[in-house]
Amino acid sequence: MSIKKNTGFKICVVGAGHVGLPAAACFAELGHKVICADNDAKKISALKKLKMPFFEPDMEDLVVKNYKKGNLEFLSSLDEAIKRSEVIFIAVGTPPMPDGSADLTAIENVAHAVARNLNGYKLVVEKSTVPVQTGRKIEETIARYKKTDAVCDVASNPEFLREGKAVSDFFYPDRIVIGTSSRRAETILRSIYAKLKARIVVTDINTAELIKHASNSFLAMKISFINAVSRVCDLAGADVKKVAQAMGFDKRISPHFLSAGIGWGGFCFPKDVEAFIYISQKLGYDFNLLKEVRNVNYDQRKYFVNKIKEKLWVLKGKKIAVLGLSFKPDTDDMRFAPSIDIVELLSREGAELFLYDPKPEEAKKIFTAKNIHFSKTAYDAAKGADCVCFLTEWKGLLDIDLAKVRRIVNHPLIADGRNMFNRADIVAKGFEYIALGA
Ligand code: UDX
Repeated sequence: MSIKKNTGFKICVVGAGHVGLPAAACFAELGHKVICADNDAKKISALKKLKMPFFEPDMEDLVVKNYKKGNLEFLSSLDEAIKRSEVIFIAVGTPPMPDGSADLTAIENVAHAVARNLNGYKLVVEKSTVPVQTGRKIEETIARYKKTDAVCDVASNPEFLREGKAVSDFFYPDRIVIGTSSRRAETILRSIYAKLKARIVVTDINTAELIKHASNSFLAMKISFINAVSRVCDLAGADVKKVAQAMGFDKRISPHFLSAGIGWGGFCFPKDVEAFIYISQKLGYDFNLLKEVRNVNYDQRKYFVNKIKEKLWVLKGKKIAVLGLSFKPDTDDMRFAPSIDIVELLSREGAELFLYDPKPEEAKKIFTAKNIHFSKTAYDAAKGADCVCFLTEWKGLLDIDLAKVRRIVNHPLIADGRNMFNRADIVAKGFEYIALGA
């Protein structure tokens, strides 16, 4: 394979999930010929009809444009996709096992498929978050099962895409990490990303894998830290938002990931923190700090529900509106969303729950108890409510007409799980206000 700067590579992205599909569309937009492969034949046939499996801002436009141009193709045959590609990005799921370890079955399957279809030099790149030393296992598996002499390099190129911002994070990354000991692999990966003006960090494969563990865990730790501070603020009568703002002005701290609330969810932080605790333990280090980061996070949800209980006393039969269900705004993703525990806790107490989310499809699959109802609008949910909870700071909820809400509720109580409103404004509109340290 000739390696020329900015040439279009034949790329296969394995996995059409929240990482793989936006990445595939963005690689195509950079001018590469991309096959996005997924063994879910239904998902692939929907994608061929240009039906997106989930909502991600700007992704659909890129998929449609590049599919029509012939730069992006969808295949359910992994074998065929690998045979036709030079560079294979692995973006399959690595779901958590009950003990916190990551289930690497799908990664191993891809390694076997590469070994089976090694019809020339190929570069296999890990994009999914994987435990440190997985790259080595992929290398060993391919070497063990390959049937030709063809050379295959393995590299780690962890993704840092946030859901809801995946496309802009792809085109404007803070850094691109390339983990490999092969000069050839490094050159190819540099060429693939050549059009992006990004800082590139080249390292060995174990270090690249660890950068991903450490980055996500550190961000989760920042959020848990400010959540712990919010608890002290509640006790001391201080305002965590001001504390976070002033802390954030210090360049060494930065203002990001310092918003206190009901904590982190989603498919990355919960799984990645667990996996880092597990892998550290396996390597011989007891990462107690991260265990506490996790505890603070989950305790925050119970603390929030207890605050509501303190105000409403008996929850049985009370009408509670829950606005915003996805783990964060601009996504319909409900995986490990804090709303799951909170709705569950309120539902178990016998409250009548009226739920609203701008993208409710995934949530409807989860919340099926008899006392849980879905409303078409935030105002429908709030009608006659004894408490209106805000769990996700969707723009439409930030802009809600609180005067209108005040007129239609039974009891004017707002429980703000994201500290998205200002206490003085809410009180001025005639509500009682529950927040977290604010
Ligand atoms: C995260 C990482 O940011 C990304 O780099 C990685 O590739 C995947 O995991 P994501 O899960 O999409 O991305 O969401 P993110 O925006 O990081 O938010 C994670 C959770 O933390 C959300 O539930 C969010 O509501 C919460 N959060 C975030 C806070 O509670 N406070 C904050 O200050 C920031």
